[in-house]
Amino acid sequence: MNKNKKILAIETSCDETAMAVLDLHETDVAYDFEILSNVVASQIDLHKKWGGVYPELASRAHLEAIIPVLEEALEPIGGLSNFSREIDEIAVTKEPGLIGSLLMGIETAELLGAFYKKSVVEVNHLEGHIYSAFCNQDRRQFSIKKSDIFPILALVVSGGHTSLILMKEHLKYQTIGQTIDDAAGEAFDKVARIMNLGYPGGPVIEKIAQSGDEKAYELPQGLKNSRDLNFSFSGLKTSVLYKTKDIKTGQEKTHNKADMAASFQKAVADILIKKTLAAKKKYNPKTIILGGGVSANGYLRNNFRDKISTSSSSQSGETQILIPPRNLSTDNAVGIAIAGAIK
Ligand code: KG4
Ligand code: ZN
Repeated sequence: MNKNKKILAIETSCDETAMAVLDLHETDVAYDFEILSNVVASQIDLHKKWGGVYPELASRAHLEAIIPVLEEALEPIGGLSNFSREIDEIAVTKEPGLIGSLLMGIETAELLGAFYKKSVVEVNHLEGHIYSAFCNQDRRQFSIKKSDIFPILALVVSGGHTSLILMKEHLKYQTIGQTIDDAAGEAFDKVARIMNLGYPGGPVIEKIAQSGDEKAYELPQGLKNSRDLNFSFSGLKTSVLYKTKDIKTGQEKTHNKADMAASFQKAVADILIKKTLAAKKKYNPKTIILGGGVSANGYLRNNFRDKISTSSSSQSGETQILIPPRNLSTDNAVGIAIAGAIK
């Protein structure tokens, strides 16, 4: 079997207007992809002053960005005038996300599909984060095997999710663990807000933590001793609040910002890795994926790779660990295109 198709993907679930065009060559054994374009228009500056994503503003910003982003994404195929001839299929993020933001992408996909008579494939945002990891070496071209890579164990850590997912074949999966309160990225954002470090919290905490002592503060790791694969980050966030602010007066307590950032980052990474190791032991995956915005964190990437690869497993052969390049850890349309094309 030899099939070729080009796919346009649209991702607007939160505060990034993202589109990508990928070329897929499918054989009996693999999906071979080439990234033709990958455009991300970020709204971070818009939301900074609110300390988080302001949904109404996000929808309006998508409205402004969507045509310029589409034009840029279609440049490699010669623009909209070649859409009908060049593009075979459209993939779009259906859920989860901010409803007003999602609708902008879905409307655009449906309209292009209806006008140019192309099918529209709906993709879950988490599937996009998982499949982004297959372009793990920052390459324009990469290949995904049809079998021999399963089961896949994926840890998706973003602003909205902290989920352990077990995939037994392409796009057939179940959630085996998740957060019972805040998501890991949400904890980074909330702790950054508590410490007046700005938005988004992840990158700024990572930067400050570089000069800090990760053992300086003892912080709780939620559900550390639970037998399940679930997570909890609200206690950790509250602990940072109590250690940095006087709750009665709201006054800042004396603390070292770098040490606190490093201790917090370590607490998050440790519990994420601990639960992933427990899931590895239970399910014996052939492939382990780390994805989602928080996987852009260098401390987590390095420790995840080190600790997961050195842990023993009854799986014969090496467990392959895949982590997307940083620009594909956070929201993007490349992962949506891959998941859509395989679907
Ligand atoms: O996947 P993503 O771009 O959007 C959602 O699906 O939520 O993830 C955004 C989250 C934010 O909470 C942000 O603070 C976090 O990812 N993040 C990071 C880093 N870069 C982004 N967290 C830790 N370290 C980073 N370097
Ligand atoms: Zn995301």
